[in-house]
Amino acid sequence: MTSKIVVTGGLGFIGSHVVVELQNEGFEVVVIDNLSNSSKDVLKGITEITGIEPIFEEFDLRDKFSLSDFFKRNSDVTGVIHFAASKAVGESVQLPLLYYENNLASLVYLLKELEQLKEANFIFSSSCTVYGQADELPITEAAPTKVAESPYGNTKQIGEEIIRDTAKVSKVLNAIALRYFNPIGAHESANIGELPIGTPQNLVPYITQIAIGLREQLSVFGDDYPTNDGTCIRDYIHVVDLAKAHVAALKRLLEKKNTENYEVFNIGTGKGSSVLEVINAFEEVSNQKLNYKIVGRRAGDITAAYADTTKANEVLDWKSELNLQDALLSAWNWEQKIRQI
Ligand code: UFG
Repeated sequence: MTSKIVVTGGLGFIGSHVVVELQNEGFEVVVIDNLSNSSKDVLKGITEITGIEPIFEEFDLRDKFSLSDFFKRNSDVTGVIHFAASKAVGESVQLPLLYYENNLASLVYLLKELEQLKEANFIFSSSCTVYGQADELPITEAAPTKVAESPYGNTKQIGEEIIRDTAKVSKVLNAIALRYFNPIGAHESANIGELPIGTPQNLVPYITQIAIGLREQLSVFGDDYPTNDGTCIRDYIHVVDLAKAHVAALKRLLEKKNTENYEVFNIGTGKGSSVLEVINAFEEVSNQKLNYKIVGRRAGDITAAYADTTKANEVLDWKSELNLQDALLSAWNWEQKIRQI
């Protein structure tokens, strides 16, 4: 019997790649998305890759009536992978209540509905932002969480706590939070990828938009950090590797292999790269020079973060397989494909 899995935010950047990996593994997928930061065209991209069009329901998780109606019609759901959330760090500082409502109220409504299922295996999209600037690198799951720099980061911390507290007393809920490092790249087919609205805030989509001629120059935020070349270090993980980690986590819960009803895993490559290293790697794979200049630091940036992935490697039997060059090349291929249309 196939398992029916709900993916909220399943037409977004990470969600769409997870839908593909789930379908590749034979799961029946139902996508819920309010299209606030995605488009129905993503369904076509997914279908081109897998040959299967996922079931799609368009509604907002804050709409309790639609949510409740959905689970009445889908009481055979066995797993939920929850991406639907707002994710712009800067915007969250300006609009905190939007973030608390969209990321936390909807999470509470969703968890309440799951109580009616026979079993609720739940994967939560968390972030390494919960660690802030960790005292030790690489960062293990045992590292303490730090006071969040933004309402967005706070929603990830509080979201984890809400799920942990609920799983503790629930008869049906088993949950895993995946703390992503920096997801980048696109599917190798270039049928799905990242679609930033407006000016990209993240490094890699900014780089690919410069390379395609949409933007003039990259501002490198600070070269006076205490790192090898003075620029910040991050752990950039290919979105396809990240998507596979979700399938591994879900299978752990479906096969009842989890040892706690709430578990946390870091998902990264374990390797840190500086901003200048990313620029150099991009120049190499795209065979062109990138116009950039060093400017002042960006408020809220930490110096360095990269994952200790031992727990995910050993317990989930998952490991990232693609490197920075693979990820940058896939992001570049995607950028070129979408600008042709
Ligand atoms: N950077 C630049 N220029 C740019 C954009 C970024 O120099 O135009 C630098 C940043 O200063 C940072 C690095 O590139 O050193 C990566 O920046 P991103 O914005 O791509 O990623 P962040 O690590 O800042 O943020 C990401 C996610 C957040 C998440 C955070 C957790 O986007 O959602 O990781 O640390 F909260």
